[in-house]
This record gives sequence, structure tokens and C-alpha cells, in this order.
Amino acid sequence: MTTTAFVDAAAKSHKLWGGRFKGGTAPQFDALNNSIRVDFRLWPFDVELSKAWAMALYGAGVLTIAECKEIERGLDAVTRRLDAGAEPIASDEDVHTFIDRLLHEEIGDVASKLHTGRSRNDQVATATRMWAMDATGQLDSAVRQLQQVMIDQAHGLETALMPSYTHLQRAIPVSAAHWLLAHFWPLERDRARLRYAAKAAAVLPLGSGAVAGCAYPISRTLLQGALGFDGVTPNSIDAVSDRDFVAELLFCTALLGTHLSRLAEDLILYGSSEFGFVQFGERFTSGSSMMPQKRNPDALELARGSAARMLGHLTTLLATLKGLPSSYNKDLQDDKRVVFDAVDTLLLVLPAVAGALAESTFRTERMRAALSTTMMATDLADYLVRKGATFREAHGAVGRLVRACEERGTELHTLPFADFAAAHPAFEDDVFDALSAYRSVEHREVEGGTGPAAVRAQLEAAQRALEVTIR
Ligand code: ARG
Repeated sequence: MTTTAFVDAAAKSHKLWGGRFKGGTAPQFDALNNSIRVDFRLWPFDVELSKAWAMALYGAGVLTIAECKEIERGLDAVTRRLDAGAEPIASDEDVHTFIDRLLHEEIGDVASKLHTGRSRNDQVATATRMWAMDATGQLDSAVRQLQQVMIDQAHGLETALMPSYTHLQRAIPVSAAHWLLAHFWPLERDRARLRYAAKAAAVLPLGSGAVAGCAYPISRTLLQGALGFDGVTPNSIDAVSDRDFVAELLFCTALLGTHLSRLAEDLILYGSSEFGFVQFGERFTSGSSMMPQKRNPDALELARGSAARMLGHLTTLLATLKGLPSSYNKDLQDDKRVVFDAVDTLLLVLPAVAGALAESTFRTERMRAALSTTMMATDLADYLVRKGATFREAHGAVGRLVRACEERGTELHTLPFADFAAAHPAFEDDVFDALSAYRSVEHREVEGGTGPAAVRAQLEAAQRALEVTIR
């Protein structure tokens, strides 16, 4: 700042506003108002959009080509300083003010021309959208890495049989690969939602000014192309306050967190001595300070627990938006706190869950031992249906056999054939074959079922699905 007439309190602390203020602001206000600690990470996007803005101002006849080039050169110098670790100071209000200060330090007064026709309102909306587009790409790739681990583990488990559960009660035998892939497809849907969130973010607000649109003839189409957006916002009032893309990204993270918590819960449960289906590797577990025998699945527990925060973040944003008057309001500054934390958390959780899963060993003999012939009760009823009984009649007959087993404390395969014959006349001596877990699985070759060919097809479909990425 060299123009002496403007060297007042506001200029000294490098504010983007302040002309209409006599003195400075209260430290208690600054402490609340300054967002630099949260929004600092937006700097690469703010620099990029500022370069595009300089070009737009040149196109509109506001800057000469020399001034435009000087600003670009200055922004490059700012980038180098930031890459080298330049940090904001306490009086930098937000990332936009910070970059503006650095730019002034680099190129002097010409830097003051860059803020022509733009406001931090359209600036922050643009920078946050650019960050969101980048974040969806990072999340997509982290989710894909976990999905690949699932596929790799599932390949070794195709022929391993385990109980499936409903109500956490043993239900019907399934391939362990089928169980693991049950956690793959929710993540695949999450990736589709992330692609949508990326599209929702890719609409350019720059050129909306503070609220009513830019008063200079800048080309928003050129800005859109230069910054990699798919379109431009159709209404400047909406553009500066639209945080739907943040809400959509937060919904993605909340549901993704929820899915990870369920995978974590299955693994934690199956890793308990009571189940014993899973043995955790050492590198993603911890020991107990008191009980020497313990190996605790902390990574999975933290994944499960962190979902709570992500659900809260979505609620926080929706509560912030609800009832706001139209256009920009300072409440919106807090959108970044929650969405940054949600994405940061997932970028920590996803690799940890992928690692924990990759290093887990599946104890297929324990899975097999958890199968009992009573779990084949449904298959036994299907057997009777194939012999001509109605399902209702078959269900009743098998139910009586199961009750007999329960009373005698035994399993279906130990009952004498006479008991089967007494329960229903259609039972023949091939009935014991219907009590095999392999038979049970083999009968379920329906698309999406647990039959061996169906599971192989599912694994191939899963691998193919991973070929689709966000950009
Ligand atoms: N730091 C602000 C935010 O994150 C930038 C926009 C401020 N706009 C304003 N008119 N004070 O929302």
C-alpha cells in the first residue's frame, strides 16, 4: 500500500474493506470473524481463480495486457511462497485477504485492480466448489482402493462357507466372498453419489459479484472453461448462497461413513473369540496397557465411531442453511469447518480400513464349524416342494422336525429317517443330501445369489465396476 491517502487503520492490517470505518475492529470480533485457520487450505484454488479473473478483467477491458501479466506473475510468486511454506499471520482475516496481501507484497499497487468486479462472496463459493471437485476425486480413489482390497480378499473366500445372519441369528449358509461383497456394493453406490456431488459442484458462481452480478463485461463462459467447470450459475443471488453442493457432499460422506461403520462392525464382531471368523493383523490393532493377551481392532472401532461425526456434520450444515435469508450471510462461513473435517476424516479412515481388511486373515474352518444342519431347514422345505408339497405344508413339516431337534438337543442330520418319514410322506432317503451346506449354496445360482457361479459373476462385475472413476 503506497498511496498515502489510503494509509489508515484498515489498510495497515490489510483489510479488503474498511473505508467506511473510522477505527479498527475489536480483537474479540476478529477472533470470531477470522476464518483463515479453517479456509487457508483453499489457497491453491483462490490463486487459480484469481488468475482466471485477471484474464477475464483483461477481456472486459478493465486491465491492460501488461497489468494482467503482472498480476499473473505476482500470483505465481505467491504460489511459490506458499509452496515453500509461507504461513498467514493472525491479522489475515481469511484466505482471500491473505492472498491479496501477499500479492500486494509481490507487485505493489497493481494488485489492487484484481478485486474489481468480484466479491469474496462469489470468490469463496467458487473456491469451495473447486475444492469440492478435487475432494470428490480423492474420496473416489480412496474408496476404490478399499473396494479392490475387498475383491482381492473375496477371491480367496469363494468356496468358504459361513452362516449368513438376519437379526444376528444364524440363517442360511453363504459363500464368505458373498458376505464380503455385500460391503462392496454400498461403496459402489457411494462412488456414484460422489460423481453426482462432483457434478453438482461444477457450476461456476464467479461473475456473480457480491449478489447482483458483475458490472463489467467479463465472459463467464471463458471463466468456466479456464477453471474446469461444466456450466455457470443462472442467478447471482442464488449463486453466492447456494451450498447445496456442500450438503450433497456431506450426505455422501455421512452415508459412506455409515457404510464403513457397518463393515467395521461385522469385522469387529467376527474377530471376537465368540465368532473367530477373522484374525486381525498386527499393524492396524493395538494392545492393552493392562491385559497382555489383548489385540484390539482400534482402526475399525475408530472407523465405526467417526461416522457419528459425519452424521453430525450433515445435520450442522442443514441447520445452518435452514431459514437463512436469501443471498450470502456470514453464517455460511461455517460450511467449510464441517465439510473439511468430514473429508479429512474419511481420507484417514478409508486407508486404515483398507489396511485392516488387507491384513486380516479369514479362518474358514471356524466359519464352517459355525454351520449347523438346522440352518438347512429352508433347503429341507424346498426339497419337499420339489417333491410336490406346497411350501406351507413343507414349512410345517420341517418346523416339527426342528422342534424335535431342539427338544433332544441335536441337529437335523442326526434324526433317524423314520422321523422324516413321519413328518411328511414325501421325504425319501436322499433327504440327507439336502442337509449339505454345499447343496444349499449350489441351489442359489440366481443372479445376485450365493451360488458359486453367481458369486464368480459378481466378482467379475465388481472388478468391472472399478474401471469407472470420477474424472
Ligand atoms: N470468509 C468468508 C466465507 O468463508 C468469505 C466471504 C466473506 N464475505 C463478506 N462479505 N464478508 O464465507
